[in-house]
Amino acid sequence: MAVKVVIIGGGSSYTPEIIEGLIDRQASFPVREIVLVDIEEGREKLEIVGRLAQRMIEKANAEITLSWTLDRRAALVGADFVSTQIRVGGLKARALDERIPLKHGFIGQETNGAGGLFKAFRTIPVLIDLANEVAEICPDAWLVNFTNPAGIVTEAVLKHSSHKKVIGVCNIPFNMRNSVAEILETPVERVAIEFIGLNHFVFGRHVWVDGVDRTRDVLASLNAGNDYSPANIVGLGWSESFLSSLGMLPNPYHQYYFQTKDVLKKDLEAYEQNGTRAEVVQQVEAQLFEKYKDVDLAVKPEELEKRGGAYYSDAACNLMDSIHNDRGDIQTVNTLNNGTIRDLPEDAVIEVNAVITKSGPRPISIGALPLPIRGLITNLKTFEQLAIQAAVSGSYEDAYLACLMNPLIQDEKRIDPLLKDLFTAHEAYLPQFKKEVYS
Ligand code: G6P
Repeated sequence: MAVKVVIIGGGSSYTPEIIEGLIDRQASFPVREIVLVDIEEGREKLEIVGRLAQRMIEKANAEITLSWTLDRRAALVGADFVSTQIRVGGLKARALDERIPLKHGFIGQETNGAGGLFKAFRTIPVLIDLANEVAEICPDAWLVNFTNPAGIVTEAVLKHSSHKKVIGVCNIPFNMRNSVAEILETPVERVAIEFIGLNHFVFGRHVWVDGVDRTRDVLASLNAGNDYSPANIVGLGWSESFLSSLGMLPNPYHQYYFQTKDVLKKDLEAYEQNGTRAEVVQQVEAQLFEKYKDVDLAVKPEELEKRGGAYYSDAACNLMDSIHNDRGDIQTVNTLNNGTIRDLPEDAVIEVNAVITKSGPRPISIGALPLPIRGLITNLKTFEQLAIQAAVSGSYEDAYLACLMNPLIQDEKRIDPLLKDLFTAHEAYLPQFKKEVYS
């Protein structure tokens, strides 16, 4: 059966990756139509990416009809999969999320702390609108959400839209598994990691190779200086005590929580020298788009690997392929808890391994969270729930409470000035706060 995929945020510099992924899987995953969708501000990028994608498809002799449009409703007609990769406010808004908290003495990061909170505020209403449109126009389609903060956004959409076929995906677990395979010098297919937690706050509880527990070997290698940080994070290494006491694999984003002071210092220095990550990415993107314009280019350029989200499309394409073919394989996704983790609410979205079937992901039971990480995970989930509540209600008090419950903010007297600056900076993208904050 021919498949139609619609990519929301199709003008993203990442798009050539997903196009490559769909081309490479033609034999098992018969995508015959791809539509790239973007908004007016992204028109120029959409054209450039669309033309490159077209050249890639032609070069591969793939039987795929490609088009690009600003008309989202028309694009959604007949879609089987809708994938989202948008950034509301663009990299400019991201740079503000990174700079403003740092100015107040807090971590300034795209998906964590106050930056992540405001990204959630800008994004959630837009994704809820999209999901409602999907429910209306192509109700059988799966919505595959890559848009950050991916876990929070996925939970918000599941709670507040009428579309329920929603799955969140992230490249971190996928890349961790690949890196662990390299560390253990083992083909990745033989490596299984039990992931437990939340998006960008996930732990690898066990690593198995052919059923043998190799967790301690991987921890020893991390202790010896091996690292699996994506391009957007400079790893600082982990202490032996941290690794051996925890006994689980940290993910690169854990540095914000477990090395906060060192990260603050590192980020302050880096931002002074090279600008924030958003500003660095702006330069990388400018170079990428220059490349994309080259009419002789018909493959994904290697420079794309300088982006933190590199290989995200493998995670997305594997997921769509497995749903389509009802494979029943195990992948790591953001999905409804429904009792998988005993300590978290039923309606919370968690990042765990799941069996992927045509009827969706079936998460594999975890039981109770291990004691050392139980507190932080339940704490962060509370933050996420308050963040969603604030994003939907537009209530200042909800926003304040979300900050209070975030371990990277939490400092009660400093929250009002921090919020004031962030709300002022992002006014154009936060219409839901009009009544309580901007009146
Ligand atoms: C990581 C994260 C993604 C994030 C990306 C940022 O890989 O998992 O969620 O979008 O990095 O990368 P960038 O190149 O934009 O800094």
